[in-house]
Amino acid sequence: MKHILVTGGSGFIGTNFIHYVRTHRPDWHVVNLDALTYAGNPANHRHLENDPGYTFIHGSICDAPLLKQMFDTYQFDGVFHFAAESHVDRSIAGPEVFVNTNVTGTFRLLEAGLAHVRKHPDADFRFVHVSTDEVYGSLYPDDPAFTETTPYDPSSPYSASKAASDHFVKAWYRTYGLPVVVTNCSNNYGPFQFPEKLIPLMILNILDKKSLPVYGKGINVRDWLYVADHCDALVRAFENGENGETYNIGGGEEKTNLEVVETICDLMDDKTGNPESSSRERITFVTDRPGHDLRYAINPDKAVEKIGYKASHTFEQALSATIDWYLVNMDWVRSVQTGAYQEWIRSHYESSPS
Ligand code: NAD
Ligand code: TYD
Repeated sequence: MKHILVTGGSGFIGTNFIHYVRTHRPDWHVVNLDALTYAGNPANHRHLENDPGYTFIHGSICDAPLLKQMFDTYQFDGVFHFAAESHVDRSIAGPEVFVNTNVTGTFRLLEAGLAHVRKHPDADFRFVHVSTDEVYGSLYPDDPAFTETTPYDPSSPYSASKAASDHFVKAWYRTYGLPVVVTNCSNNYGPFQFPEKLIPLMILNILDKKSLPVYGKGINVRDWLYVADHCDALVRAFENGENGETYNIGGGEEKTNLEVVETICDLMDDKTGNPESSSRERITFVTDRPGHDLRYAINPDKAVEKIGYKASHTFEQALSATIDWYLVNMDWVRSVQTGAYQEWIRSHYESSPS
């Protein structure tokens, strides 16, 4: 049995990842370390409460003594590092926590991993650092997609903090020989995504008959990746990747934000019995995000060739499945729409003119 540390396993991707590996790698014992910020929800794993293959620890990746104790107790074979502050708009409103969690937290985790490897030099250990395509900056419409050698050029406090963490991870490989793999993926969507991000926000605003705030002209392009495809890629990177290497993971589904929102409107009208095209009327163009990257696109060729990755979901099908998940999990939705969530929505959107 392998003992695997998942950080941030109560957030969006971490939750999906834990569900994925409990199904596809049942011989892994997963230890989830999560600080349960506004983005983390312990109820996501309620069904695993009596599962001996799952352990939850409430704590922070910034807590070095806790990390040491956990490595000593579980002798981890691998780390999947998801824990982060992850929302660009929040990073613009309050960047400091992004430095603390994404940079210092990653540093502490690297130190804990290195101490473990030094104590157990024969251990078969690997640290998978989950990062983002946003570290590469913005593309023009005709630019080739990001590859693993595209220079870093982050725009937001969020992407700058992730870029810094990637550099620390690579430095711990080059300087100290810590076995690491870095993955840089595009925008994920799917079940359990916190409704401050574009896709769930639009689904819920349609249900609540609110306006649908599209930044600027809605022409910014993202390369949408279904979260289950991402989870599959991460396991492949852990099992088939090469130490010190980066793998870009994309969904091959470039869409403008307006296209995404219009598709959600049409699917929602169809599924909820709204009159045809009625949700589109709620689209409202609001003040653009400062430093808003125009386009992200991933060239996944290296991951396809070296770790056997291939996205197996199309955008329309997986978006439809995602909407279905939200529609049947309204208890989850309402439970995460707490006071802190309402406060963010009020402070962020009420200042944007319609
Ligand atoms: P999320 O915001 O939904 O979840 C983050 C989780 O980390 C939460 O459970 C939170 O409680 C936890 N956390 C925060 N600070 C912590 C700390 N100090 N110690 C322990 N846990 C802490 O994020 P997500 O969307 O699931 O993203 C996961 C990772 O994937 C992040 O590293 C993010 O940068 C990266 N990523 C996400 C996307 C995306 O589209 N969501 C795309 C590219 C990369
Ligand atoms: P988001 O989900 O915040 O992800 P990221 O900023 O990491 O790409 O946003 C996705 C795109 O949607 C991005 O171009 C910003 C845009 N957007 C809106 O137009 N309106 C919104 O209310 C939000 C949250 C995002």
